[in-house]
Amino acid sequence: MARCVLFCPRFPAMITRFTQLYIGLLVAIPCLATNGTMTKNLKVLVSSNDYPPTALKILEDHFTVLQSRYLNFGQEGSTLGREEILKLIPGCSALVWISNLPITNEILDAAGAQLKIVSTVSAGYNHCNPEELRARGIQLTNTPNVLSPAVAEVAVGLILSASRRFTENLDQVRRGEWEIGFDKVLGQDLRDSTVGIIGLGGIGQAVVKRLSGFDVARFIYSGHREKPEAKALRAEFVSQDTLLEQSDFIVAAVPLTNETKLMINKETLGKMKPNAVFVNVGRGDLVDQDALYDALKNKQIYAAGLDVTTPEPLPKDHKLLTLPNLFVLPHIGSATVRTRREMAELAANNIVNGLTGKPLLSPVKL
Ligand code: DGY
Repeated sequence: MARCVLFCPRFPAMITRFTQLYIGLLVAIPCLATNGTMTKNLKVLVSSNDYPPTALKILEDHFTVLQSRYLNFGQEGSTLGREEILKLIPGCSALVWISNLPITNEILDAAGAQLKIVSTVSAGYNHCNPEELRARGIQLTNTPNVLSPAVAEVAVGLILSASRRFTENLDQVRRGEWEIGFDKVLGQDLRDSTVGIIGLGGIGQAVVKRLSGFDVARFIYSGHREKPEAKALRAEFVSQDTLLEQSDFIVAAVPLTNETKLMINKETLGKMKPNAVFVNVGRGDLVDQDALYDALKNKQIYAAGLDVTTPEPLPKDHKLLTLPNLFVLPHIGSATVRTRREMAELAANNIVNGLTGKPLLSPVKL
């Protein structure tokens, strides 16, 4: 029978037709896919064991989901998590990245050429190796906007904590040694102040909105260009130098890029007012921390509030933590139940769209 087929004169044509059909199916399946049944053959890796169930379900409805058994943060992430990711990622079409650890070339190499999308569950993407993703033709998505309100609330919290000296006040309460007196532990007013926002993106705008009930006299902002949203917020576009020189409160809300790295340094701190309160909700590396330490220690500026530092976690014996006029949080900007769920779901829906031929919901321009 086999010999009969092999010697059949139409055999080569049959093979060609079969190959055409097979290739056609391969191309058509992802395009036709509108529900899970057509894409179940695609594998998606979730990098950490703390991904919310609602987001996991979105992925499981469409794809074969692999998930790390470990956290992808800190020590566990850089040892056990890393090995697990390298083991699971070969053959995956998409990667959900829940971590501030870097996406290394080693991970991308292990994945293989079918990796189409990296979906980071964060607004910032400096840790995602964007140049390498671009070079390899891998799309990157992030989770902006959904986290702006939560991060802005933390920025407001830092403004109040730093300007009203919560670090030293809490320390007094803990020690049971209150400095009681009419002129003791006095802070700075937001009322009638000038608030400067470095980067009037989603988070910067949300900060201005939230501060609108604090009788701030003037909102100013700096950045690449004027923002159309600024008019409704009554925020005025100024140069970075003007912002540094005129603001009583300065909020850094820009992503970390080659351009913004160490933008707060000896020189820029030197332009700030002595009563200035500096707040950072962007990334630790926006700031030269030695220069910030000196400026706070020498009372060149009044106080600072940081949600982000370098490194994270900041070692408990770090010199910054000796400063009474610094209030530090452990990078909790987006850490609310609702926000983290919405970020995770957006990350999942980006992958669903990306692997089923629909437009990405929040692509990063690489
Ligand atoms: C982000 O998503 O980039 C924020 O830093 C989270 O707090």
